Amino acid sequence: MFRVIVWGALLFCCQLQYARASSEIFRNAGFEGALGTDNWYCAGCTGEQHLGDKVEGAASMMASGRTAEWAGPSYTLPYGRGVLPGQTYEFQIFVKLLSGGATHVEVKINLATTFSDGDVNYQEVKRTDHISQNHGWERITSTWTVPSFDKEVTEMRLYIEGPPASTDILVDAASLTSAEAQAGLVEGLQTVSGAEMVTNPGFEGDLSGWYCMSCTGVHYTQDKHDGGGSMLAQDRTAEWAGPSQDLAWGSAIKSGYTYMFTMWVKLLDGGNTPYNVIAKVNYRFKDYNDWVSSARLYAEGPPADVRFLIDDVSFLSFMDVTTDNWWHESNIRIDQHRKRYVTIRVQTPNADGISVEITQTKSHFAWGCAVNAWIMPDDARYRDFFLSNFEWAVFENNLKWTQNEPNEGQLEWGLADRTLEILENAGIPVRGHCVFWGVPEFVQGWLHNYWGGDLEQKCWKRVDDVVGRYAGRLVHWDVNNEMLHGDFYVQHTGSSQIRYEMFRKVKEKDPTAKLFLNDYNVVSYWGETNAYANQISEFLDNGAPVEGVGAQGHFGQRPDTVNVLHRLNVLSSRGLPIWITELDVNEPNEYVRADGYEDAMRAAFSHPAVEGVLIWGFWDQAHWRPNAALVNGDHFGINEAGRRWQRLVFNDWRTNLSLTDGIVTPEGKEFIFRGFHGNYEVKVKSHGQVVATKTFYLSPGAGALTVDVTMPNDIIVG
Ligand SMILES: *[C@@H]1O[C@H](CO)[C@@H](O)[C@H](O)[C@H]1NC(C)=O
Repeated sequence: MFRVIVWGALLFCCQLQYARASSEIFRNAGFEGALGTDNWYCAGCTGEQHLGDKVEGAASMMASGRTAEWAGPSYTLPYGRGVLPGQTYEFQIFVKLLSGGATHVEVKINLATTFSDGDVNYQEVKRTDHISQNHGWERITSTWTVPSFDKEVTEMRLYIEGPPASTDILVDAASLTSAEAQAGLVEGLQTVSGAEMVTNPGFEGDLSGWYCMSCTGVHYTQDKHDGGGSMLAQDRTAEWAGPSQDLAWGSAIKSGYTYMFTMWVKLLDGGNTPYNVIAKVNYRFKDYNDWVSSARLYAEGPPADVRFLIDDVSFLSFMDVTTDNWWHESNIRIDQHRKRYVTIRVQTPNADGISVEITQTKSHFAWGCAVNAWIMPDDARYRDFFLSNFEWAVFENNLKWTQNEPNEGQLEWGLADRTLEILENAGIPVRGHCVFWGVPEFVQGWLHNYWGGDLEQKCWKRVDDVVGRYAGRLVHWDVNNEMLHGDFYVQHTGSSQIRYEMFRKVKEKDPTAKLFLNDYNVVSYWGETNAYANQISEFLDNGAPVEGVGAQGHFGQRPDTVNVLHRLNVLSSRGLPIWITELDVNEPNEYVRADGYEDAMRAAFSHPAVEGVLIWGFWDQAHWRPNAALVNGDHFGINEAGRRWQRLVFNDWRTNLSLTDGIVTPEGKEFIFRGFHGNYEVKVKSHGQVVATKTFYLSPGAGALTVDVTMPNDIIVG
């Protein structure tokens, strides 16, 4: 049997895990968004966002109407996904009691674990006994190891309890991060949710729920994909005749949602002739107002006289997001995966009038662009726009073999050398693209004359030439571009190992560069996503030191974001980081183009496995797709897509804060904020005058980053 896939294969849907540096496990950790059962909620009380009093951001959470001491802010942990038994985590929350005066009360962070047999186990994560209303905001922290149980856990809930029921509680700046540095596993993006919507998906006992439309359906046990049976469609009267099931419109299948469909198929007639098998949904309308009365899921395609089997059908809701609310959902994930808490501790004998200005100067996530080395060195306008809008670069053409050695032995490095120097002086990391490119039409003429061992020797000289020349200066190398689309080197050397050996040779020559696969049609369309995921495994299994997955991202139209997210999930299932290496959105209308860029950038930035996005050019006069440009014409006029890039990269996804409220401590004053990962400058002001500055780097990591600014004792304040 083979599988028909619509919207991709259901291989790695729900428990996907991706190893990387620790990121936030709590959704809505800072209580800046709406509360709900998918983030923080109140158990036995009323939970509300509270704007008047907070530790950071604009809001905290208030728990009022508490029905008991055990009632309080709660969070259902992603046990078995982001939160794993036996692993250690850093926990933080700030708590403030709104009544009780000077009376100290116990505040406990507890864990309620429910098992499949209905039992509930209670454990303490942390107990404090020094909190009172008069103390104001108090930080509670704990290094906590998740217990292992010998029973199946169905729910693990963290909650805050302790004060008398009459006491309202505020909480803010919650955090849960893995303490196990690089080994930490981050909860994968859950793309499929809810129950199976197909009745009798495996045909184990009979055909209940199914019928054959204009054909005869037979419960078939002689051949099946799995389990006890399959469904045979025979006596088909037309190409469109086939196995059918009615889906419940409005409950199982709703307008505006995306679904993922999988089915196994086997043809019983037709020999070697290939036929299309198509899965379709047929809607019947009640009237001309588009009221749907029924939806029929069915398979069709081969000529009427071809019998076929189907088995193991699946139809699942995809992420439970609509095209309208995915934007909100992406913001939650961006907050979760791209930000971390910082505590700035200003040490001063007089905290009165102290404020801080925090400016992020660079992003940790890579936002970059392809550079044209024919233009960059001599065109100041091109150079200026590039250097002020992009923090990463990749050579578009000038490190390709055909440019570096157009005729055998004639080595050309001048353009790449000059451009690399400009980028290095600006502190811009550069990707190398590409040592080899095995799509035959892009292999330079003279190389076509070499075969077998002779060609291999040419290849290893190429590695010496280009990788050796720039060793230590390029942070990535695309080793052999677009291997899903060409195998010149395999064909011409006759070596099945050559492509793996290329990775080993490049790694030997430059051990510091991370080595990438790089291909197209893997995030922008469905065609080759699964093949690419399999290629990642193939290379790893054959000992090729592949360290990153390049997904080019050339979109012919506005991206379908939900599908892009799922394709990223499929690619990230092999445990390697993903880079969108060549993003462009080919769309003549600059406003639609801007939305298209935002869709793609947002999908990538909100996916935990993606580390960077590089666009494939910015100027329409030097772009392989002028309708994808950010600036136009000789005057370098910025268009809507360019403005969108600037707004997202330098405003929406950057931290720039001025804080006057802080927590006064015996040592001075503490300022807490949740910032995007990256480089920062902080200016400490006393009554508006800058008295100290400091730079720091906010990496992804466990717990909050503490930055100490020690003020000289002799600064006169107040
Ligand atoms: C930070 O915000 C201030 C005030 O809104 C603004 O004047 C300044 O230009 C911003 N800085 C950056 C680097 O965006």
